[in-house]
Amino acid sequence: MGAEVVVCPADAEPEDPNSYYSRAEQISREIPNAYYLGQNYNLDNSNAHYFTTGPEIWEQTEGKITHFVCCAGTGGTLSGTARYLKEKNPNIRIIGVDAYGSVLKKYWETGILDKNEIYPYRIEGLGKTIIPDNVAFDLIDDFVKVTDRHSAVRARELAAKEGLMVGYSSGAAMEAVYKIKKQLRPDDVVVVLFPDHGSRYLGKIFNDDWMKQQGFYCAPTVEANNPYSYKHIKRIYKVYKRKYGRYLRQTLKI
Ligand SMILES: Cc1ncc(COP(=O)(O)O)c(C=O)c1O
Repeated sequence: MGAEVVVCPADAEPEDPNSYYSRAEQISREIPNAYYLGQNYNLDNSNAHYFTTGPEIWEQTEGKITHFVCCAGTGGTLSGTARYLKEKNPNIRIIGVDAYGSVLKKYWETGILDKNEIYPYRIEGLGKTIIPDNVAFDLIDDFVKVTDRHSAVRARELAAKEGLMVGYSSGAAMEAVYKIKKQLRPDDVVVVLFPDHGSRYLGKIFNDDWMKQQGFYCAPTVEANNPYSYKHIKRIYKVYKRKYGRYLRQTLKI
């Protein structure tokens, strides 16, 4: 489409002129008739989800939804959708998903923007190093933190087992479902929002070399689900040997 892509360092402070916040604002001032959407502080963001995503989910589940699991970045998707759903049924539980390295969950728990929480992480779109106006913290019933590694493995698992090729933060949302699974009952209707498609991540989470470079490749979630995997069998053997090794050696005299 002829757009010029300006790549910015992900870990730059928002006030840093090189951060994507500052660069976007600067570019919008330089280009005639440009408009800076301001997705973090512009409440049109969450309102769009109040008027579209919320009703869509309510109608498609015929009002049976019990849980809504959603990533929080700007908070727009989560908050607008949650506001609509809670108006329909205040008992619907809203589960926010946050990344390790982001300040959102701690802020939800304590009201403090703790800069010690901030460090670089891999999942794109999820979490923040600022507190956007679009995150309606009062609508969130539970906030779950997920790791880069488990989110990547979950995304790959969704592609391999469910035929759903979705993005990295979608893997994060799915990982959050696994983390809250003990709270769920068989008749619950859990809606998990997958923010984007997997095609944008072919060079990352769907690339074996990238996964190996990150040290993510043999994450236990996939291995544990595959009873025939070499790694799983080796792990069981190691536990068995540690627990019963001496007894076996004495009995068998080996
Ligand atoms: C891939 C991806 N996942 C999750 C999010 C988070 O959504 P929101 O900003 O509505 O909180 C975004 C936001 O841009 C995104 O691009």
